[in-house]
Amino acid sequence: MTTRTILREISAAAIAVLLIAVVFAACGPGKAGKEPAVAAPANPAAPVPVLAPVPPMGFNTWNKFGCEVGETLIRQTADAMVETGMLDAGYKYLVIDDCWQVDRGADGRIIADPKRFAGGMKALADYVHGKGLLFGLYTDLGPKTCQGRPGSAGFHDIDAATYAEWGVDYIKVDWCDADDLDARKEYTSFRDALRRAGRPIVLSICEWGRNDPWNWAKGVGQLWRTTADIGDSWESVVWIIGANSRHADAAGPGGWNDPDMLEVGNGGMTFDEYKAHFSLWAIMAAPLMAGNDLRAMTEETKSILLNKEVIAVDQDPLGAQGRVVVERGYGGQVWLKPLADGSKAVAFLNTTARELAQYVRWSQIGIPPGPARVRDLWAHEDRGIHTDTGKKYDERFEVKVPAHGVVMVRIWPGQAGV
Ligand code: GLA
Repeated sequence: MTTRTILREISAAAIAVLLIAVVFAACGPGKAGKEPAVAAPANPAAPVPVLAPVPPMGFNTWNKFGCEVGETLIRQTADAMVETGMLDAGYKYLVIDDCWQVDRGADGRIIADPKRFAGGMKALADYVHGKGLLFGLYTDLGPKTCQGRPGSAGFHDIDAATYAEWGVDYIKVDWCDADDLDARKEYTSFRDALRRAGRPIVLSICEWGRNDPWNWAKGVGQLWRTTADIGDSWESVVWIIGANSRHADAAGPGGWNDPDMLEVGNGGMTFDEYKAHFSLWAIMAAPLMAGNDLRAMTEETKSILLNKEVIAVDQDPLGAQGRVVVERGYGGQVWLKPLADGSKAVAFLNTTARELAQYVRWSQIGIPPGPARVRDLWAHEDRGIHTDTGKKYDERFEVKVPAHGVVMVRIWPGQAGV
């Protein structure tokens, strides 16, 4: 390239920048800074707001209530979410799973169960919104949902428009009766229908990891299931942790691997097992959808679901999904999730039925040799300053991890905050 061509290119670029600036100034808010009175028409090609910069948090009816859903339960749950401090802790979506729908009208509109939801979905959504919460529903891409209710096959636009009219903020979209369909195409079509409906609605993709959603779901939905359904047992939790951990690269602000909803508080696991379940969901930056009866929580359950220090790990704005950094053959794992402030969340997981001593060196979690402040996120207390000089036999941070349990800490390099 000659000097002249370079100069010509530079001035062409300068003119382009100037033109963009002029056009932007002309289109931007006027001097008074007024917003346009009417929302721009929905355009599928327009940039979409990021609906889930951090993993969504809320409550879903399925794990505890199955098909026993109705407006009284939803209103009482909304009240409980406020009264127990769940909303303050970040749980904002209240989602009705399968079984709210019974039929379609002659016009194709989905019909909510008139007995269980006698006041209608719009009034219920208004009630939920009145509490400062957001409202969610469930559908399926096949002709029928997993419980045999009418699905959305052939009705993407009409359903999306109905949700927008009712004030829905979150839609979980299941995959029963849909296996012969192309998942990516169908979920994309549903996303486009939501965009045309003109209301920002979180799309929760639920095809159980059958079609490798970690390869395509970001930009289609805000979360995607990676596994089959969770059960209220330790075996289920350990299995899901292993399966979900394989897709850490796919997660980040805007789109999250979903290892399924929480079982905390449903009675099938011990206190330690539930703490481990919750800790690992947080370390994996998973959506935190409570699945227990929020109207009747024990103090133990509250101490888990309302643990703000663990929730802060899940909701950290860096949005990294944690990974295993040390795998000990005898059932111990060390998990690391880097956080936005330069600190590290570390979970020591023990999958065995006896207590395990575990340790970590700073070099394994990306911390330079020297002092670091360690805080225990379950005991809610500092464990002092630990110094790992990097020399082989020097101090290392060591913990005793209960059977089927975790110790979870946050480590700040240096002496920050002390
Ligand atoms: C599937 C989903 C569950 C739940 C049920 C409802 O199994 O994976 O999370 O929504 O359907 O029928």
